[in-house]
Amino acid sequence: MTSEPKGAVSGAIRDRAFRLMMDLTDELRRVAAPTVEPPYEDLLEIVRGIREDIEALPEPLVSWTLISTMDEYEYAHPYDVAVFSIAAAMCMENVNRISDIGVGAFLHDIGMALINIPPTHIEGEGLSEDDILRYRSHPELGVKVLRQHPRISAFVKAIVSQHHERMDGTGFPRGFRGSDIHLYSRIVACADVYSSLLHKSYLYKTISPAEAVEYMMSLAGFELDKDVVRVMLSCVTPFPEGATVRLSTGELAVVSRISAGLLTRPTVRVVKKEGDSLIETSEEIDLCQPEHQTRLIVGIV
Ligand SMILES: [Fe+2]
Ligand SMILES: [Fe+2]
Repeated sequence: MTSEPKGAVSGAIRDRAFRLMMDLTDELRRVAAPTVEPPYEDLLEIVRGIREDIEALPEPLVSWTLISTMDEYEYAHPYDVAVFSIAAAMCMENVNRISDIGVGAFLHDIGMALINIPPTHIEGEGLSEDDILRYRSHPELGVKVLRQHPRISAFVKAIVSQHHERMDGTGFPRGFRGSDIHLYSRIVACADVYSSLLHKSYLYKTISPAEAVEYMMSLAGFELDKDVVRVMLSCVTPFPEGATVRLSTGELAVVSRISAGLLTRPTVRVVKKEGDSLIETSEEIDLCQPEHQTRLIVGIV
């Protein structure tokens, strides 16, 4: 028997967030105009719940949601971006408005519901030229949705409008650079890229979760704020607890414990395949220990 992946945040909060994002996206798609009011109070409550769950941990250490189909990406992605952003913001001294960051992270891609591009195109990849133009309008369309709600702050709107701006000026829609991009937008941008890389590693297997971490590090100081990348990689593990992984030795194992420090080297329990089932063995390996340094996790199964 192997355990299901579990995260720092309670399943009830996650399910509520998924439902809410699904309903909001469906409604926007049905109406096909930015006239739907986002459920601000519900989002605030969900953000508060996520924050309380993270605060209850010995250290802010969160993970991402393993999904089995690309359709689920549409609501798993904003949820993960919110969890990553809230956890990182809680570790940063100069961040006061964590609720705004959480709500902005949930709503960052809300404009995508108004353009007809399927979620199978993670972060705009594989699109025609026409599609790219429409894709690039989603931050501004998102802000139009938020205009319907008087209580949504300017910080949330900045997150939605700037989450694709990049520190080196290569982003869109305005090509802002450096500190012209609000810190909260830089936090959500970082979570957005990390989430899309991790989902890609799992669904398409074109990269490994460890390579997603490496890629994030390569963007630090160029496209992404290097301080935000450092904090985010210290509190978001690329290997969720309970996930089944393949080791470089060919063995299968389940992530049994993650701890702050080397997040790419958790403790795992080796499992054996018997028919269609995976049976846990008593062999537990702490990948941080020097005797296991040649063993790596090569992917999530
Ligand atoms: Fe986006
Ligand atoms: Fe996104």
